[in-house]
Amino acid sequence: MEKLSAILILCSIMMISVPATHGIAEDPKSVEKWFENLTHSKQKLTKLHFYFHDIESGNNITSIQVARAPNNNSTSAAAFGGINVFDNAMTVGPNITSKQLGRAQGLFAASSLGPQSLLITMNLFFTQGEFNGSTLAIVGRDPILDQYREMSVVGGSGEFRLARGIATAQTFLNNPATNTAVLEYHVVVIHY
Ligand SMILES: *[C@@H]1O[C@H](CO)[C@@H](O)[C@H](O)[C@H]1NC(C)=O
Ligand SMILES: *[C@@H]1O[C@H](CO)[C@@H](O)[C@H](O)[C@H]1NC(C)=O
Ligand SMILES: *[C@@H]1O[C@H](CO)[C@@H](O)[C@H](O)[C@H]1NC(C)=O
Ligand SMILES: *[C@@H]1O[C@H](CO)[C@@H](O)[C@H](O)[C@H]1NC(C)=O
Ligand SMILES: *[C@@H]1O[C@H](CO)[C@@H](O)[C@H](O)[C@H]1NC(C)=O
Ligand SMILES: *[C@@H]1O[C@H](CO)[C@@H](O)[C@H](O)[C@H]1NC(C)=O
Repeated sequence: MEKLSAILILCSIMMISVPATHGIAEDPKSVEKWFENLTHSKQKLTKLHFYFHDIESGNNITSIQVARAPNNNSTSAAAFGGINVFDNAMTVGPNITSKQLGRAQGLFAASSLGPQSLLITMNLFFTQGEFNGSTLAIVGRDPILDQYREMSVVGGSGEFRLARGIATAQTFLNNPATNTAVLEYHVVVIHY
């Protein structure tokens, strides 16, 4: 699992732009109104930066393997077929004790028979500041040994309704001894 843990990392956030609007009404009528008013809404560009902490052992595990292939004597570099579910902290700085911006909740699967690569599917759930309560949905391929891994922002909720963009992951730290990885994320999104 050290290999899988190499994957994750991340986060401090620097938010740019976007006037704060708290308490977005989420009832169906309000959502309809929001859509009907879209033509008057201006597109915004928001940049986020944060560190993502994947912890697979110790007292504060946030990422657990929930499945693996019956034949796990993998000769490929990745433990092909392994699946983790995680609820990882997103923090401003690389230290887990730095300010928490939210949680990255989702799963990753070792989905490559070749060079190590994961399928990532996760929601970034923000719990601070102007994006408190909003989410971004991310799906992508994460070839964990590459310097930059580009994943897609495929949508969002709250302040991030109809979001689209790119999330770029970099490994900040990978410690196989403690099954801990810290990933640095830069996310650029267009939304309304
Ligand atoms: C429609 O959008 C404009 C521009 O974003 C905003 O000022 C206005 O309050 C919105 N109206 C409604 C009913 O949401
Ligand atoms: C686990 O989390 C608790 C509470 O945040 C903290 O006091 C403790 O030091 C952490 N343990 C480890 C091994 O990180
Ligand atoms: C496990 O992999 C090794 C190396 O490829 C191979 O020699 C061995 O036969 C495999 N064992 C099983 C049970 O598949
Ligand atoms: C396969 O998985 C089982 C159960 O998780 C584990 O006990 C065993 O050591 C694994 N075998 C190999 C070759 O990785
Ligand atoms: C993380 O922060 C804590 C206290 O804020 C400090 O004791 C610790 O040394 C820091 N760890 C690293 C790796 O900087
Ligand atoms: C975030 O929103 C929740 C739910 O509305 C609220 O309870 C919490 O106090 C807010 N946190 C911050 C830091 O604004």
